Amino acid sequence: MNRLEFVRSEIDAILLSQENVDERGKGYVHLYGVAQNCTLLALKRGLDVELCTIIGLLHDIYTYKFKYIKEHASLGATEAGNLLRKLDLFTDDEIKIMKTAISNHSDKKKKQDKYSELLKDADVLQNSLYNADINIKHKKRLKKTYKDLGIKPKKIKFEK
Ligand SMILES: [Fe+2]
Repeated sequence: MNRLEFVRSEIDAILLSQENVDERGKGYVHLYGVAQNCTLLALKRGLDVELCTIIGLLHDIYTYKFKYIKEHASLGATEAGNLLRKLDLFTDDEIKIMKTAISNHSDKKKKQDKYSELLKDADVLQNSLYNADINIKHKKRLKKTYKDLGIKPKKIKFEK
């Protein structure tokens, strides 16, 4: 089992513990969706694919583990750091990169380090891909991410 799969088992255990089936489903879609977007953007931007995928899987850990959204980015960074240290598979430098990205991810208007930016972009992209007809926040960031991926989106309108 590689390191990613160890992290996946931990996050799956948190998601499976969600009693509300709706929330559990949304959790899987969002965390796995963001993780895959992170993988894609890491490949595109030449960043560490493994770390980026893990950042995506863990980024909302606090929200799903404690059902608490306020300040979930900074609280989640600490929680993710504890989990990653417990696994004893990652270096201090790797944990620092992942914790920083998770801690910064709610601040979508600011431009920060490459891993933080990748996570913010992946998060916004997942929300837009969940339902492309929904009026999403952070359009400027989304437009930049589409451009980065070589996509020129047309205006989308689904049938009612
Ligand atoms: Fe998120």
